[in-house]
Amino acid sequence: MTKVVITIFGASGDLAKRKLYPSLFRLYKSGILAENFAVIGTARRPWTKDFFEQVVIDAISNLATTPTQASEFASHFYYQSHDVQDVAHYATLKTLQDELAETYKTEHNKVFFLAMAPEFFGTITDHLKSEQIVDGQGFERLIIEKPFGTDLETAKQLNQALSETFDESQIFRIDHYLGKEMIQNIFAVRFANILFEHVWNREFIDNIQITFAESIGVEDRGGYYDQSGALKDMVQNHILQVLSILAMDKPASFSSEDVLPEKIKVLQSLRVPDEQAITENFVRGQYQSGRINNQDFQAYTDEPSVNPLSKTETFASGVFFVDTERFKDVPFFFRTGKRLTEKGTRINIIFKNNANIFGESLKPNILTIYIQPTEGFSLQVNGKEVGKTFSIEPVKLDFRHDADALGNSPEAYEKLIYDVLNGDVTNFSRWQEVKASWELIDKIVGSWQLDKTPLQYYPAGSMGPTKSFALLEKYDTNWIWQPDIWY
Ligand code: BG6
Repeated sequence: MTKVVITIFGASGDLAKRKLYPSLFRLYKSGILAENFAVIGTARRPWTKDFFEQVVIDAISNLATTPTQASEFASHFYYQSHDVQDVAHYATLKTLQDELAETYKTEHNKVFFLAMAPEFFGTITDHLKSEQIVDGQGFERLIIEKPFGTDLETAKQLNQALSETFDESQIFRIDHYLGKEMIQNIFAVRFANILFEHVWNREFIDNIQITFAESIGVEDRGGYYDQSGALKDMVQNHILQVLSILAMDKPASFSSEDVLPEKIKVLQSLRVPDEQAITENFVRGQYQSGRINNQDFQAYTDEPSVNPLSKTETFASGVFFVDTERFKDVPFFFRTGKRLTEKGTRINIIFKNNANIFGESLKPNILTIYIQPTEGFSLQVNGKEVGKTFSIEPVKLDFRHDADALGNSPEAYEKLIYDVLNGDVTNFSRWQEVKASWELIDKIVGSWQLDKTPLQYYPAGSMGPTKSFALLEKYDTNWIWQPDIWY
């Protein structure tokens, strides 16, 4: 059971309602949060405690076993109307924080969750320090949401600002993909199976394909997205994080002290492409109108809050190389985009072909990791086709989590908040990782901004521009994408 006061900046926002309150409630139900915790919600709106409690109850109503359980949980929530730029408001916050520490006997442990626009992060942490809300008593941890900067320069400034108040071990940069069940499972698949552990290298792996496909468009986030684009929205963070887990060397143990340096090493070993390599090896796309599941969708440039002349990419694809002994020259292909055929997050590890004594061309072994919507993995192996003659056919060994297990499986935010309460930084991005990934992404964005790689258009409902397929053909391979059928 953790003793803590959690202060949420942005308590009236969408993230808090959709993710944070349900996650905190699940931690409460499992006893990790019990009597000794309180939550202070802050936002500009002039809410009362009663009103805030009702917001929390509404957010968790489908998870609560009884109304009493929901209201007992919500009674731990306190609201403070707060202007993050007004230093006087922090004095009130300090008083409330100290009172709650006494009432709930939290031993002055504190977690601060900044669930709001990053431009205020530095101001908030400055005031937390100057008004001695961060006072060195108990544990003090900061959780922040992406984006962590919009390029290397702004990321450095942000990091500098945060580090005035918190040191690196106290900063938890959320990448919600690192909380996903099947992303964490990559560690198990790789390091708990002798079958894979010893072939996970350039000698046996031909290429790795990472697909993060989404069928949704930019929804009501056109304003943000048009300034960002797929590369910064999905690749700089989620895809490179996943790549680092796929490509890392085996850590000495599963502790953050051993895992994180290995991940950092991968990101620092990413080959930074020159101008020519960027043009040849990376594809930027934007969706036009089209149909998905018999429904018509408009073009990106017709979406609300998007510049009608926008050249922002809603699709990005390319190939990364990790210059380590383990993976030198093995292509890591990636693609991600909005308004693609279906929502599907998958990783394919394509092994090299075996020396063949059967006189027919063999299909490679392929390990597929299904991240979402279904969760599991499958392995394509070759076997003998039933019959009198001897022919080889590929078959699939397929495993998916069953529905019951999934029902009980914690959500990404629940797992990540649990880690924060335990002070475990393994599933959070470290500054060196953020820095290394921006160095690479800045290079590509810089070239794209000069329009050196022409923007490719693709119809909504497709799997992206044809150039993304042509890219793999140049490397004598194809995107592996079989229908996700599971019975
Ligand atoms: C977010 C991006 O980080 O991840 C969104 O900003 C994207 O644009 C989302 O839709 C995808 O997350 P998930 O968990 O739905 O795959």
